[in-house]
Amino acid sequence: MSQLQAPRGVPEYLPPDSAEFLAVRNTLGRSAELAGYGYIELPVFEDTAVFVRGVGESTDVVSKEMYTFTDRGDRSLSLRPEGTAGVMRSVLEHNLHRGSLPVKLWYAGPFFRAERPQQGRYRQLQQVGVEAIGVDDPLLDAEVIAVADEGYRRLGLRGYRLDLSSIGCKECRPVYRAVLQEFLAGLPLDDATAERARINPLRVLDDKRAEIRVLLTDAPLPPDHLCDECREHFTRVQQALTALGVRFALNPRLVRGLDYYTRTTFEFDHPALGAQSGIGGGGRYDGLMASLGGPDMTGIGFGLGTDRTLLACRAEGLRPGEGRRVEVFIVPLGEAARDAASKLAGRFRADGMPVDMAYGSRGLKGAMKAADRSGARWAIIVGEKELAEGRVQIKDMTNGDQRSVVVEDVVGQLLTEGM
Ligand code: HAM
Repeated sequence: MSQLQAPRGVPEYLPPDSAEFLAVRNTLGRSAELAGYGYIELPVFEDTAVFVRGVGESTDVVSKEMYTFTDRGDRSLSLRPEGTAGVMRSVLEHNLHRGSLPVKLWYAGPFFRAERPQQGRYRQLQQVGVEAIGVDDPLLDAEVIAVADEGYRRLGLRGYRLDLSSIGCKECRPVYRAVLQEFLAGLPLDDATAERARINPLRVLDDKRAEIRVLLTDAPLPPDHLCDECREHFTRVQQALTALGVRFALNPRLVRGLDYYTRTTFEFDHPALGAQSGIGGGGRYDGLMASLGGPDMTGIGFGLGTDRTLLACRAEGLRPGEGRRVEVFIVPLGEAARDAASKLAGRFRADGMPVDMAYGSRGLKGAMKAADRSGARWAIIVGEKELAEGRVQIKDMTNGDQRSVVVEDVVGQLLTEGM
């Protein structure tokens, strides 16, 4: 039989690397919790309409990359390509928007996009995200961005860049869009690009090809076409970020890949990651709730790529969550010692001390190798003869020192020393 494999483009995190993955996810989530965001666990698949209406039919994410299937009841469902539309659906369904505002939620987990896999670009990608819904306050924009920045900092990351822009609101954006379309119509664009200019002209600004970039040198840019309210909002966001000590660069060409954005948009990039350098991004989405059939409420949030953030940590030589798998490893010598070792392991666990032991009938050499590999600070060697006297050996794995201890005292002693 041929060897089964995980689907293409789906990364897996196995021990010991999975400890780093968990540390990244937990650290980013912790930053959200420190700002009062409550955790939301969302469905991994939704009614396809949630994404078509929420994210937008003209986006690549929805039109080309979604995993859509029909269930046995003939309903069209899709694996979630992103989190914001599902959060909004859930907020509306459970009437959270009628409670105190803003509704502040964070989430973490896998998302699915049928992209061409490469280093840092996956079909199952992981994100940690937040959404703050129902209050239109530039200080809230600054908070959301600062939470992301704080998450990266807590991991020890330093080499990333934050790009900031504003793409206007439902009043000023259509005016700008028309100006941009007129400009693009005057350029010698290939058919596909001209078609994009017609459907979603802002996306053309994001074109990475050198020949198109040259043509766009004098293109009109969103921040130069903001209405007074949007300009004021954008100025206040920048002031608040500066006051919070968050460094950013204005990037008037910043274009996000999803349709729901309005006003503030931002992206975190890590240059060490090459082509897939976007480690996180987000923005305001003031029309999203209405497009899902709810009241006209505002919102802002981000999605941070957990996989890419881990790659960025490695590129900076950081080992997030590096530590021991267990603190204590118990090595029983002989059959009678195995029962005592198992009981001792139970006592360590009950007291919250991470512990493992050598199972099966391994000899001393093999068991000590396992103790070494576990990364434990202490090995406890339970020999039958010593055990008959109520004693075991504690070996300090950092320097090899060994001492004999009364078995009843061993948990207490190591707990004290472990502090
Ligand atoms: P997004 O920019 O599409 O935004 O994704 C956010 C982050 O997810 C990216 O910056 C990147 O780090 C990671 N990511 C996206 N696609 C892939 C992939 N194929 N492989 C690996 N990582 C990937 C959103 O999803 C929005 N929902 C963010 C948001 C929340 N905006 C407002 N609220």
